[in-house]
This record gives sequence, C-alpha cells and structure tokens, in this order.
Amino acid sequence: MGFSTNSAYIGLGLVFLLGYAIVLSLLTMVAYARVRHQHAFTHKVENTASTPPDAASLSVPSERSDLNSLAFAPVTLAFRDLSYTIQVKKQKTTRQLLRGIHGCFEPGTLTALMGSSGAGKTTLMDVIAGRKTAGVIDGDLVVNGHPMDRKTFNNLMGYCEQFDNYEETATVLETFQFCAALRMPRHTTSLQRTVFVRDVLVMLELHAKAHDQIATLSQGERKRVTIGGELLSNPSILFLDEPTTGLDSRAATIVMECVKRIAQSGRTVVCTIHQPSTVLFELFDKLLLLKSGGRLVYYGPLGLESSDMLEYFGQFEDVPPMHVNGSSTGGRRRST
Ligand SMILES: Nc1ncnc2c1ncn2[C@@H]1O[C@H](COP(=O)(O)OP(=O)(O)OP(=O)(O)O)[C@@H](O)[C@H]1O
Ligand SMILES: [Mg+2]
Repeated sequence: MGFSTNSAYIGLGLVFLLGYAIVLSLLTMVAYARVRHQHAFTHKVENTASTPPDAASLSVPSERSDLNSLAFAPVTLAFRDLSYTIQVKKQKTTRQLLRGIHGCFEPGTLTALMGSSGAGKTTLMDVIAGRKTAGVIDGDLVVNGHPMDRKTFNNLMGYCEQFDNYEETATVLETFQFCAALRMPRHTTSLQRTVFVRDVLVMLELHAKAHDQIATLSQGERKRVTIGGELLSNPSILFLDEPTTGLDSRAATIVMECVKRIAQSGRTVVCTIHQPSTVLFELFDKLLLLKSGGRLVYYGPLGLESSDMLEYFGQFEDVPPMHVNGSSTGGRRRST
C-alpha cells in the first residue's frame, strides 16, 4: 500500500492520540467557561412565535411575582402511623428509624421538620417523597384525601437535597433554561417557559445574577439556584433538606424568605432546619419535631411568636419554662 511499517509508529501514535485528547479537553473547558449561547435568545419580545425572549431580558415585574403564571394543583399531604424499618445486613437485625409519625402538610404553609442530629428528619422526608428504595414503610399516606399514588405524587413534588450539584461554568440563566427544558410539562410553550424562568429568577432574587456563572456565586445564591432548579418543575409540594446549613445568618435569612414566598404562592413547603434563629423560626407556620429513634415529639401550628407550641410544652411539669423575650437590640429572642 506504500505505507512503511515501523514499530516506532505505535508509540508515536499513542503520544499523538494522548496529545489530541488533551488539546480537545482544553478547548472544551475553554468553550464551557467562555462561550455563552444565550445571545441566541436575546431577541425582542415580539419574536415570540419562533424565538422566545431571554428570561433575564424580560422586564422585572413591579411587584414580586407570585409564581402563578402556570397553574398547579394544591396538595394536602397527610400521614398517619408512619414507620420505617431497615434491615441491617452486618448485624443481621432490623432497625426502626421512624415510629408512628403523623402529620399533615397543607398548601400555603411552611412546615419545619426539626430534631436532633440523627433523629430521622431526612429519613422522614425521603420516606414521604418516595426516595427510599430499601426497607419497609408502614402507615397511611393520603394526598388530597386519596391514598397516595406514587407515580402521580412524583410529578407533583420537588426535592432540594442538602448538597448542591451543578455545572459550575453555566450561568444561572442557562441552568434555569436547561431545567425548564427538561422539567416543565411538554405542553408548555417557549414563552410560558421563559416567563416562568423570569418569575423564578425574580422570586429567588437572582435576576441581577442571571448572567453570572455558578462558580462566581456565593453559597446562599447557589442554594437559591438549587431551589430554582426544583421550582422549574412547577411542583405543588416542595421538600428542602437543610437549606440554611453552611450559610451565614444574612444568606440564611434571604434563602428562608424566598422559601416563605414559595409557600405563600400556595405551594406546600416542608423544610428540615437546624437551630434556626428566632427570626427564621417565626417564618414557619407549623412544626414537626422528632427525637432520636424517629419518635414524634410535637406536630402542630406554631402560632403567633410560637405561642401555640409554647403553650403545648408549658403543660408538662418537667419541661423547663420557655418564653419569648424582647432582646436588648430590640429584636426577639426565645429563651429556654
Ligand atoms: N441506610 C441506613 N442504614 C442504617 N442506618 C441509617 C440509614 N439511613 C439512616 N440511618 C440512620 O437513621 C438515623 C436517622 O438518619 P437521618 O439522616 O434521617 O437523620 P437526620 O435527622 O436527618 O440527621 P442530620 O440532622 O444529621 O441530617 C441515623 O441514626 C442514621 O444513622
Ligand atoms: Mg438530615
């Protein structure tokens, strides 16, 4: 064939392929970091039929969006005598992680799931959200008065895990557009998606950061991007696992105020939280408190300045008195 054969070509060929792979990888990295595709979307609003406007270029509503440009079905989720047992393979025994838990998560309310570390907060959320693949779940789960149909419920819920997971080089807008394309119902139009992405950006106070890459965001902003990613599936019920962990108090307050607004939009929101400040705690409407062993301590409304919860615990003689103080800085502080 006219090719000279030489065993030296094998080594050279491998070096060439390796170099080729490295150069392509570097070019891909640079392209991810530098090349943005969103200029393809930056057209005027009147081009709506073919190319939707960029969500970030749509005007920001004068009043904060209520996130209701897309309809959703309000969800009331009730559970009774919920228990969860797993098989511990090493010890060849079973371990009960939840025992006889009951409660009800209602539309428009923000419920706090609290308890000591290892009490079973994440386990309870995972069991309700259908994220446990092993173990035995007992008890009744009722959605809007009907026994839970897992497949339907999965389409109604969103779940924000404790740890954020993104493509760091993408911008906030790209991330949201990607989530919207994957997660919003197929029948929604491009314009509806764009408007909903804009509404989510505005509700989560990320509009000014729409074109910033995730890598440049603060921890609080990243958490809000995670929440936004879930919101873009237009969930009726949203679970959040410790959204404030690792945040300073200002970032935690902004995140929780956003979460409160999501609940006020008529969605059902359940959130595990560790040692919240009084200001954050009073954003919640209801509390489900667990103690170690997955036992229920309290489920009910908090009331004004937690009065309902304090009244409940006040009836037990061996519980130290709890009351709300005015602090020297003019804020409010709960002491025990
Ligand atoms: N797959 C499992 N196998 C064995 N034990 C488990 C498993 N999953 C959870 N546990 C145990 O169940 C208990 C509750 O865990 P869970 O993660 O729900 O607690 P948590 O209240 O969310 O704690 P934290 O506040 O630390 O997040 C813990 O003692 C944990 O060790
Ligand atoms: Mg947990």
